[in-house]
Amino acid sequence: MPCKAAFIDAKTPGSHLKDNYSIIGGGVSESKHQKVNLTLKHGFCIGAAGQPPKIKNSPHSHFTAEVFMVYKGSWRFYWNNDEKQETVLHPGDIISLPTNMFRGFENVGDVHGMCFSILGHDDAGGGVVWAPRVIEEAKGHGLILLEDGKLVDTTIGETIPEGKRPMPPLTATQMATFDQYTPEQMAVHVGRAGTYTPSAYKGFPNQTPDTLTYYDIIGPLDSEGHNFQVKPGDKNGDQFNVYGIESTASGHTGKYSREAVEVMLVHRGEFEIFCEHEGETLTATLQDGDIISFPKGAVRSIAPLGKGFAYLVVGGDYPDAPIAHS
Ligand SMILES: [Fe+2]
Repeated sequence: MPCKAAFIDAKTPGSHLKDNYSIIGGGVSESKHQKVNLTLKHGFCIGAAGQPPKIKNSPHSHFTAEVFMVYKGSWRFYWNNDEKQETVLHPGDIISLPTNMFRGFENVGDVHGMCFSILGHDDAGGGVVWAPRVIEEAKGHGLILLEDGKLVDTTIGETIPEGKRPMPPLTATQMATFDQYTPEQMAVHVGRAGTYTPSAYKGFPNQTPDTLTYYDIIGPLDSEGHNFQVKPGDKNGDQFNVYGIESTASGHTGKYSREAVEVMLVHRGEFEIFCEHEGETLTATLQDGDIISFPKGAVRSIAPLGKGFAYLVVGGDYPDAPIAHS
């Protein structure tokens, strides 16, 4: 369930008409009306942004890592204080945005677009910081952001609670403390679909040989035996790792468990899931855009039905190897 007014810019023309989803954890939504679909703490949050063509998400900075996986449409990501650097991403591409840097994104395709997001830490650092112009431009459109990071929506009769004050725009001195990235510096934070190098790690225990390929996409740079290809966004640790699993034909991973939480997001294809945890079992078929969270310690298997690609988001700052089960 999306929120249509999750951020200060959600009623400003050009950045309105968008949906913000908090799928796992609240993320950085500023609205008390935001539905959090799964509140169980994972150590990271997963959400999604849905936007019609030509609609922007305004420039803001994060305190923890922010990753986008493009699900549908073409998206222009722009960054720096002057908003002048940019790159365009397509379905299957991924971008890991550094902390302490202004970024925004726009649907530059001609269909309603969707990106999944991963935010580091359970509270995603407590919110975002908006570029000064975003707060200025929101004036007169009905939304007021308070100093505590929560929105007041005057279009539905809400008023500023007593003792609360609107968020002041950042000063020039404060703006000067944000990092600026060249296109070359940003390129290592971007992964393009179809260009990943398969992992040196040879897949899961007991898997069907040769039909599954694994990709180490985002993780620590110093991790032995892995080849993570997209630089993490948080110098202090993202608290998650991202892998890709690609199938060329029907197969399966075999049964395994992990000590860390693992979330699977299906990008394309059909996957049969088995999960056994605390005496309960679940079987389900997941398709494009579906998500499952495997609890810590649960025994699971993933069986793609033909061609497909899915992301696996594993909690923790260092990868947790799967444990084989018979
Ligand atoms: Fe963001």
